[in-house]
Amino acid sequence: MSPFRLTRTLPEDATDAALRADVQRGLTGRPKSLPPKWFYDAHGSDLFEKITELPEYYPTRAEREILLARSGDIAAATRARTLVELGSGSSEKTRHLLDALTDLHTYVPVDVSESALAQAGQALAAERPGLDVHALIADFTAELTLPDTPGPRLVAFLGGTIGNLLPAERAAFLASVRALLTPGDALLLGTDLVKDEEVLVRAYDDGAGVTAAFNKNVLTVINRELGGDFEPAAFDHVALWDAGHEWIEMRLRSRTAQTVKVPALDLAVDFAAGEEMRTEVSAKFRQEGVRAELSTAGLDLTHWWTDAPGRFALSLSVAR
Ligand SMILES: C[S@@+](CC[C@H](N)C(=O)[O-])C[C@H]1O[C@@H](n2cnc3c(N)ncnc32)[C@H](O)[C@@H]1O
Repeated sequence: MSPFRLTRTLPEDATDAALRADVQRGLTGRPKSLPPKWFYDAHGSDLFEKITELPEYYPTRAEREILLARSGDIAAATRARTLVELGSGSSEKTRHLLDALTDLHTYVPVDVSESALAQAGQALAAERPGLDVHALIADFTAELTLPDTPGPRLVAFLGGTIGNLLPAERAAFLASVRALLTPGDALLLGTDLVKDEEVLVRAYDDGAGVTAAFNKNVLTVINRELGGDFEPAAFDHVALWDAGHEWIEMRLRSRTAQTVKVPALDLAVDFAAGEEMRTEVSAKFRQEGVRAELSTAGLDLTHWWTDAPGRFALSLSVAR
């Protein structure tokens, strides 16, 4: 068994303060919205893993196909000794990368979900003697302080999670990733690609209702953490394609006119019948857009790989 450390970079009350601020802002804004990071308590993380196995949810399978085919090329191009993975979740697909990165000294999975980090980190440390696993409970949209580990450093951001950030958030995020790298270090980025609307919408509105349960889980988190009285059954799951922004939006639509109380914030929030609250955007990308956004952040795209049907892309870029 190799060393495993789990470090919380923010005190627990900072997470609580961030949730309060996001819920206060989101429920009093027009239109109402909530940021997607609050889906991921232990139950939400389990639901996300179920989503990755759904027949309609192609991104995980597509990205795994690329990792299986290209991890050797990624290892040869980066010679990484430290792999930092943002939003690592179960780290399932990362295993292909870990197998190929033969010079790797330390793996640093970073996630807001403590349960996902503990499960994945402990399993990896047990399986891979010689690999130092240093998990960080942290918000990747906030300033990150990484452990002092040997370079070259490779930062991986998989799953298309970058699409959950709005364009201005994405620019700030990529600049902060660049700040974690020294020239020659690399970023491995998974991006879901623009494609047929029907395929995209089905990926976020599956027949078994798992994505609907995942979407409503944010209401359960608010009920538990802030004493809210959201009735999840009083909301419908909505997934739609916004062709102008080229993103999928997940929303929760109030079935009736209702008032929801959130005592910890001293809030009583009115929902009109049919009112929709945005809970996630998932932007879809094109190669030229990804190249331009990376370049603005000081990263030069060197490799672009897709799965066979061209649904999903992995790009490798190098810090200038
Ligand atoms: C769409 S899932 C992808 C998981 C995994 N990388 C994959 O490809 O299957 C997003 C992951 O990012 C984490 N996450 C979401 N927002 C985050 C944030 N602001 N900071 C850190 N982790 C976050 C979630 O807990 C979840 O594990």
